[in-house]
Amino acid sequence: MARDGASYVCQSCGAVHAKWSGKCDACGQWNTLVEEVTARPPGALAPTKATRTRGLAFETLETATPEPPRIATGLEEFDRVCGGGVVPGSAILLGGDPGVGKSTLLMQVCARAAAGGASVAYVSGEEAVDQVRSRAWRMGLSSAPVKLAAETALRDIIDALKREHFDLVVIDSIQTLWSDALEAGPGSVAQVRACAGELVRLAKKRRTAVILVGHVTKDGQIAGPRVVEHMVDAVLSFEGERGYPFRILRAAKNRFGATDEIGVFEMGDSGLREVPNPSALFLGEGGERAAGAAVFAGIEGSRPVLVEFQALVAPSAYGTPRRAVVGWDTGRLAMVLAVLEARCGLGFGAKDVYLNVAGGLRINEPAADLAAAAALASSALDMPLPQGCVVFGEISLSGEVRTVGRMETRLKEAAKLGFSQALAPAAAAESAPIPVASATRLVEAVRRIGDGDWNEKGAAA
Ligand code: TYD
Ligand code: MG
Repeated sequence: MARDGASYVCQSCGAVHAKWSGKCDACGQWNTLVEEVTARPPGALAPTKATRTRGLAFETLETATPEPPRIATGLEEFDRVCGGGVVPGSAILLGGDPGVGKSTLLMQVCARAAAGGASVAYVSGEEAVDQVRSRAWRMGLSSAPVKLAAETALRDIIDALKREHFDLVVIDSIQTLWSDALEAGPGSVAQVRACAGELVRLAKKRRTAVILVGHVTKDGQIAGPRVVEHMVDAVLSFEGERGYPFRILRAAKNRFGATDEIGVFEMGDSGLREVPNPSALFLGEGGERAAGAAVFAGIEGSRPVLVEFQALVAPSAYGTPRRAVVGWDTGRLAMVLAVLEARCGLGFGAKDVYLNVAGGLRINEPAADLAAAAALASSALDMPLPQGCVVFGEISLSGEVRTVGRMETRLKEAAKLGFSQALAPAAAAESAPIPVASATRLVEAVRRIGDGDWNEKGAAA
């Protein structure tokens, strides 16, 4: 049995156990249970019958007070992901790998918001004030009226925020804070949960928007507490592939806006630069496209984005062929490969298959099926797709190509960037020069490229 008041908290999912064990029953992770002493043992928090109540007064949906305007930071890509600016009194969690640029992004957000007239504070628990300041100088933000502090004691931070009202406060990072009400060390689930809870309460009460930075663990979760994700109004993640300058801001949860928006930034010498038109960026240099490359006309949030799918199909040197995917779903690749094998007569049995989405973007749309299939077929048959051709469409298990949303938008974006042809579902035929009804037709069309017979009838026939 645990000592009085001690419980064992999983550092991965936050589940609380009465006894220690090697494996967390809740999430199945090994060696994640850590003893934490809480002031009150779990369960003691439940109010007893004797608790006095204040009664519950219901309200209506109608309200006399109009919604307060959002804090527009002026960093368009950030505001859009938030759903059109930061809602006053909201709590936002920003997650991301160490070094991806969270502090850089938030310093820019703070500086822009402050320059726009909001009262803004930036509290760093990781860096000294001098370090934060010198970075801001390097980014040319030295004149913005942002108040800086380096502090990790929750009590001091809360006191300061009660004394002076701010519209926006950044806490960098939640894992460095500690509350003296708990024995557990900073960064433990209990501490992170307590500190986040306290800050979220303050945000609502004082109508101060609070942005909490959270580090991400190896397996992609915001370190320790999934619990924090439930407490906050929005969970944003900042992502970037190593070796690429692109950074993508996504909303995983947003009580005040859509979650499918992305913001695209480019990391440079003087901070992050907004990329309002990401297609050009992800496509990279034009020039001849090799066999195995297909340009996908996708939609990310409200914006069309063109991105290159690259496939390599090569004889396998080992007994078990490899399947490796970057930027797309492994299950989806298995399905497309199965369709190409079963319906189109392409064999991948003894071949290694690699699929990569260029530029470090992660694609989740089913509409990318046809682009992946085109890249795979092109590599398998060693036939480069024609220049100036985009691909999109969903593939069903029967091999049929299905209509996808916003086809006109995709085609318009493609045309804007000089792509005049599209392998697309038949329903897009009016403006798609090459309607493709099935995966079989796609493969036939790719085969025919070599005969110089790549045309409208070629694919449609
Ligand atoms: P940082 O914001 O400190 O990352 P995080 O807070 O997510 O840990 O960014 C660190 C990286 O960004 C670092 O590797 C250097 C790079 N960087 C630039 O390339 N240009 C810049 O202007 C700045 C400020 C950082
Ligand atoms: Mg940082």
